[in-house]
Amino acid sequence: MGNCKVPLTWLVINIFFILSEGKDPLPGLELGTLPLGIVPFNGQEFDYIVVGAGAAGTAVASRLAMAGEDVLLIEAGGNPTLATRIPGATMTLMGSRLDWNYKTIPNNVSCLSSIDRQCRFSRGKCLGGSTSINYMMYTRGNPNDFDRLNITGWTWEDMKPYFLKYEGLEDLDRLPLSSKPYHNTEGLVHVGFFEDPKNDWHEKIIQGYNSLNFPYNEDINALSQIGVSVILGYVSGGERVSTARAYLTRKDVKKNLKLAKNTFCTGVIIDQNRVAKGVTVKFLGSSLSLKARKEVILSAGSIGTPQILMLSGIGPADHLRHFEIPVRINLNVGGDMSDHVLPLLFIKVDSDVEKHSALYNLVTQGAARAKWLTTHNGSLASNGLTDVTAFVNTKCYDFYKKRLANTSAECELPTLQFIHAFIPRSLLNVGRRFISRGLQFNNDVLDQLVETNKKYAFIVTSPVVLQPASRGTVRLASANPLVAPAITPNYLQSDADVNEMVRSINIIEDILETPPFKQQNASLLRLNLSGCKDLDGNEYWQCYSRHMTFSVYHAVGTAALGKVLDEELRVIGIKNLRVADASAVPYLPRGNTAATAIAYGERLADFLLKFK
Ligand SMILES: Cc1cc2nc3c(=O)[nH]c(=O)nc-3n(C[C@H](O)[C@H](O)[C@H](O)COP(=O)(O)OP(=O)(O)OC[C@H]3O[C@@H](n4cnc5c(N)ncnc54)[C@H](O)[C@@H]3O)c2cc1C
Ligand SMILES: *[C@@H]1O[C@H](CO)[C@@H](O)[C@H](O)[C@H]1NC(C)=O
Ligand SMILES: *[C@@H]1O[C@H](CO)[C@@H](O)[C@H](O)[C@H]1NC(C)=O
Ligand SMILES: *[C@@H]1O[C@H](CO)[C@@H](O)[C@H](O)[C@H]1NC(C)=O
Ligand SMILES: *[C@@H]1O[C@H](CO)[C@@H](O)[C@H](O)[C@H]1NC(C)=O
Ligand SMILES: *[C@@H]1O[C@H](CO)[C@@H](O)[C@H](O)[C@H]1NC(C)=O
Ligand SMILES: *[C@@H]1O[C@H](CO)[C@@H](O)[C@H](O)[C@H]1NC(C)=O
Repeated sequence: MGNCKVPLTWLVINIFFILSEGKDPLPGLELGTLPLGIVPFNGQEFDYIVVGAGAAGTAVASRLAMAGEDVLLIEAGGNPTLATRIPGATMTLMGSRLDWNYKTIPNNVSCLSSIDRQCRFSRGKCLGGSTSINYMMYTRGNPNDFDRLNITGWTWEDMKPYFLKYEGLEDLDRLPLSSKPYHNTEGLVHVGFFEDPKNDWHEKIIQGYNSLNFPYNEDINALSQIGVSVILGYVSGGERVSTARAYLTRKDVKKNLKLAKNTFCTGVIIDQNRVAKGVTVKFLGSSLSLKARKEVILSAGSIGTPQILMLSGIGPADHLRHFEIPVRINLNVGGDMSDHVLPLLFIKVDSDVEKHSALYNLVTQGAARAKWLTTHNGSLASNGLTDVTAFVNTKCYDFYKKRLANTSAECELPTLQFIHAFIPRSLLNVGRRFISRGLQFNNDVLDQLVETNKKYAFIVTSPVVLQPASRGTVRLASANPLVAPAITPNYLQSDADVNEMVRSINIIEDILETPPFKQQNASLLRLNLSGCKDLDGNEYWQCYSRHMTFSVYHAVGTAALGKVLDEELRVIGIKNLRVADASAVPYLPRGNTAATAIAYGERLADFLLKFK
């Protein structure tokens, strides 16, 4: 790469994206345009008010609108940008203005190499919510994730119809026949395979896992989750399918749905009889009350929903009193958050595939961008290596024989998910500003990454601890709704999570010994970390895990079903107030969380429409 040429291209691309922010210049090739917003006025009435146009909120509001109901959907952000539609541009979205960019409270045992020890905590702030900025991986988790809840009406058999209801699978013919009962081709949310990234490592990674006896799994959303797989994603026609694109662009939704963009909900209006009557919002600096004749539904996500509940007097009584908020009901809101966490690993590889990397193209080659804009194809239509994922239960991996076995029923319940990404040589140097914004590592670590990356490409490996023992909290930082809440992810508070990370790194070490990796001289990058000096072997990796802690932003459980919500997602003790989003999910599923959040939205729409 000619270094002198980079700044100009860089500038051009930045200007391009800045100009496209807040605008959506291209209509979808397949999908229609997003709805225009309304200007809400004080005292305006609706039958239903849904707060938050993310994964779950768009599903609830759209189903109500399709059934002819009078519904207002409120969203703090505006339209997603053009960049959100390009699968290969995802990495540029973390830390952008479509991200809430929450600051987190350090626990001093995780994220030690992050700036101020604060773990990055991304959430989408636009139509589609986090589905507009996420990695588009379509995994549902494991049936046991539901069955173990032991809540009437919430087993996998109860939930499966809702997962299938929204799925619009485009590539059924590329799956085995045995997959058929697990999919629907007619749903509103289109899913399919990503375009081929044309990167040799795509195939080599699969071979590496196969060499450790991980089976190739053709469909991790069907019979078994275990093994290595090329998974489906929320993509169609080479572009991201956010829930905004899937639901809100439909004519039958737009006909009835009223949408208030850039409208921030500050609380739920609850009368003396503990009946929800509407919400208060901030719109263009003024405070408005909006009325709901029937129900208020909170779908503001794992951070927004508990914040709104607590501001409205629903939460831990002592905490609310501390902020002089009148307590309406004492419930464990925000006290039991769990999130998928990982140590970010960098495998040094030295090959010439950098030309094919989506991100590299985004940063350095106008041609790839032009190709995406004109054909929705080429490397930017791929998700890099991210569609290669592996699920395993580490108890079933034999660390002596370096082989995965299948010795008990438990082996079907994964404890780890490996996710992969590719960083071509020198990209970190060129894109330092983006990378620094997105990863939030301190300069000491960033310098080492940038310098090493000048010589080697990286396969970034994220071994996700699927069932962490640590729990975090979301609390108010102020009674002022405009002040972001106090988020303590509390990653790695339990040693069990660090031990699982070390096991995951040991598996990666074994993979590096398999032929496809060995032949390329691949090796794990050992960063010089203050505090990990003079440590070797697994002690070093324990220390590494506490320094290089990262999240996949799957936080759940901050307004949980069974604790804060009853079996029909009603807030316990309050009438006409319900929650559907990731905050309602009691425990982390063994997979990415958007599928579950959407299913909760579909489920709530069904509850609401049942007695119509
Ligand atoms: C960077 C990233 C990568 C991820 N990768 C994947 C992946 O590959 N696959 C996957 O399945 N999952 C992934 N996830 C997780 C997944 O996207 C989320 O679990 C899912 O979107 C949660 O849905 P939700 O409805 O709870 O919240 P969200 O989708 O976050 O939606 C909440 C909405 O509410 C709005 N809101 C919040 N507060 C207010 C307020 N006070 N007033 C008005 N509106 C408000 C927000 O702006 C947002 O639009 C990822 C998440 C992130 C952030
Ligand atoms: C973490 O360290 C900071 C600075 O030393 C301290 O103020 C804070 O209380 C510590 N937090 C915890 C949870 O120990
Ligand atoms: C499931 O819940 C029922 C009723 O609340 C209870 O009796 C039973 O012991 C629970 N089962 C398990 C496995 O926790
Ligand atoms: C992209 O190109 C490939 C190969 O040429 C083709 O199979 C695929 O259908 C194209 N995708 C789109 C979205 O046009
Ligand atoms: C493991 O064994 C069980 C029981 O025999 C079987 O159902 C399952 O498909 C096997 N899993 C794998 C990944 O081979
Ligand atoms: C790997 O290292 C060996 C020995 O240093 C060298 O001969 C070989 O060319 C290297 N292979 C690659 C793909 O870089
Ligand atoms: C760590 O420090 C050693 C000794 O100074 C140096 O050789 C090595 O390159 C450093 N590693 C990284 C990743 O910078």
